[in-house]
Amino acid sequence: MKPGPGLRRHFLQFKDLRAEEYAYLFERTREIKKRFKNYERYQPLVDRTLAMIFEKASTRTRVSFEAGMYQMGGSVVHLTTGDSQLGRAEPVEDSARVISRMVDLVMIRTYEQAKLEGFAAQSRVPVINGLTNEYHPCQILADIYTFIEHRGSIQGKVVAWVGAGNNMANTWLQAADILGFTVHVSTPSGYEADAAVAGVRNPACWKIFDHPLDACAGAHLVTTDVWTSMGYEAENEERRKAFVDWCVDEDMMSAAAPDALFMHCLPAHRGEEVTAEVIDGPQSVVWDEAENRMHVQKALMEYLLLGRIG
Ligand code: CP
Ligand code: NVA
Repeated sequence: MKPGPGLRRHFLQFKDLRAEEYAYLFERTREIKKRFKNYERYQPLVDRTLAMIFEKASTRTRVSFEAGMYQMGGSVVHLTTGDSQLGRAEPVEDSARVISRMVDLVMIRTYEQAKLEGFAAQSRVPVINGLTNEYHPCQILADIYTFIEHRGSIQGKVVAWVGAGNNMANTWLQAADILGFTVHVSTPSGYEADAAVAGVRNPACWKIFDHPLDACAGAHLVTTDVWTSMGYEAENEERRKAFVDWCVDEDMMSAAAPDALFMHCLPAHRGEEVTAEVIDGPQSVVWDEAENRMHVQKALMEYLLLGRIG
């Protein structure tokens, strides 16, 4: 393993990078995506290895990191709780000491953010959050890039969040604080976003609405997520009742700005958090959003391992 000029920095929360670093990453994403679309080989990460640790299920995160790393000339090691010693209670700090001596970069999807941070504290190499109970920064990176691709800068815009105050909501709030937009949040009672967990410094970057239709009024982007996140399945029935009015439908999209976009990190449940008409309708950009996971993460991996190019 060649020690490169990498940053040795982690991406555990959205606030781990600054606004000007996001501007750089979005520019690199545009370039890296353009090369991919033109079938141009771009392999700056030859001989670099990414370890991916999954303690929860995934489709997009796994495929986007794995395909992205191979496209950039590197390789991946895929571990799950079930097929590694993590599932047999080896301390996460010991796993970090061992794994980070053998690879250049680690991506982890797990439960508590504290576990991810425990790993990162002992890691010799950068660690990326691939989703925790509290945050999903790679997804918001892709979502904001997708917004920029379709509509230009997100600064000063309004994003409506309809649904649970979960890992996606927390990360949207952090991103609003850093990139200068506003989130209109509507959650059922008992499922509010927690400002302390979201880690928002500027309270003006979000507003709370009792009714989801009011949160959507005038919004430039309407977004939602599953009613029950991974790890909370025992609450499924209770949540089904509490969330019944938090289904993004055509009335909500009509209340939003005329050119509003709809996003969902996926997987989606049509008829629960969103109607089929909206997610499969003309304002939905969910497939671009999913594809962009790969392009933004390639830019992120390049940045963490090689620093700024040029
Ligand atoms: N959006 C997202 O992270 O999808 P997966 O759970 O399939 O990785
Ligand atoms: N909030 C969801 C996102 C899935 C990508 C979850 O944590 O399950």
